[in-house]
Amino acid sequence: MNTAALDTFRAELERLRVEAEAALGTASDANAVEAARVEFLGARSGRLKSLQKMLGAIPAGDKPAAGRHFNEAKEAVGVLLAAAQARVERVAAHVVPIDVTLPGEPVPRGHLHPITQTIRRVQEIMARLGFESVDGPEIEDPWHNFEALAIPPEHPARDPLDNFYLAVARGTDPLLLRSQTSTVQIRVMETRRPPLRIVSLGRVYRPDTADATHYPMFHQVEGLLVERGTTMAHLKSVLRLFASSFLGGDVHVRFRPSFFPFTEPSVEVDMEWGGRWVEMGGAGMVDPAVLSAVGYDPAEVSGFAFGLGVERIAARRYGVSDIRDFYRNDVRFLRQF
Ligand code: DAH
Repeated sequence: MNTAALDTFRAELERLRVEAEAALGTASDANAVEAARVEFLGARSGRLKSLQKMLGAIPAGDKPAAGRHFNEAKEAVGVLLAAAQARVERVAAHVVPIDVTLPGEPVPRGHLHPITQTIRRVQEIMARLGFESVDGPEIEDPWHNFEALAIPPEHPARDPLDNFYLAVARGTDPLLLRSQTSTVQIRVMETRRPPLRIVSLGRVYRPDTADATHYPMFHQVEGLLVERGTTMAHLKSVLRLFASSFLGGDVHVRFRPSFFPFTEPSVEVDMEWGGRWVEMGGAGMVDPAVLSAVGYDPAEVSGFAFGLGVERIAARRYGVSDIRDFYRNDVRFLRQF
């Protein structure tokens, strides 16, 4: 049978344990843990020490049991203390003091994509030749993408399989992702009067299978000059000045007879650089029908236009053999530019 004294003693031990658990569990730093240690386990006036003194008043028969309970409680509080100490140490280790004299950590800097760099460089060179840079929409209507450029409805370039037409309500004109930047020629001529010198660089879309030289989305540079007395000699001079500035050195430009519905005569433009001829795009004198379509008088002004592939000139300049690399978003490739 337990004596009342033993029961009281056990109850006191249990109360102490519960309070120690609360104090140590909420101690938020080393000082608070140390204060709790002194309160409960302090060698001279700790609360366990006081309880230990009560042992003497326990009847002899209950002493062994009382001693066992005392030791259990002391051990339990010791375990709580160790856990609390470990916890505040862990927290302290994470709070790194700030040394404002240390050098900063380098922040990796990105840079412009090679296609964007190319576009800006072309704009810069053409600006020096007096060409203003303008933008046009990537979603176009058939008038700007075809009709005004003298590409009639039955022309194969308008085939649904060769264009990204957008689904539209029955009875309305089908819009499409523009297949060329020549659209911008029309948009500018519709709103301005000659003299005009503009370039427009941007994305165009065609349902081509991606390979080393094709991609369903790519970029073009469109150039347009409309002034009194413009000739093909002006066209060739501008292209040659552009090519020499862009690629560096004395670049030769070659015209081969060709056909585009919106130019007459039309040519393919080749550029020679490093001993190799590369086809860069098309050009020609703006067809009188196009000038008339936008309300200009072909008897009064003439103009030239050209369209070059941005990926092509970028690939040529940077020595890239597969244009798909421009779109893979692989920083190991992009970092080189
Ligand atoms: N728009 C033509 C194409 O995408 C390229 C072109 C040819 C543009 C002749 C022109 C031009 O301005 O005069 O194939």
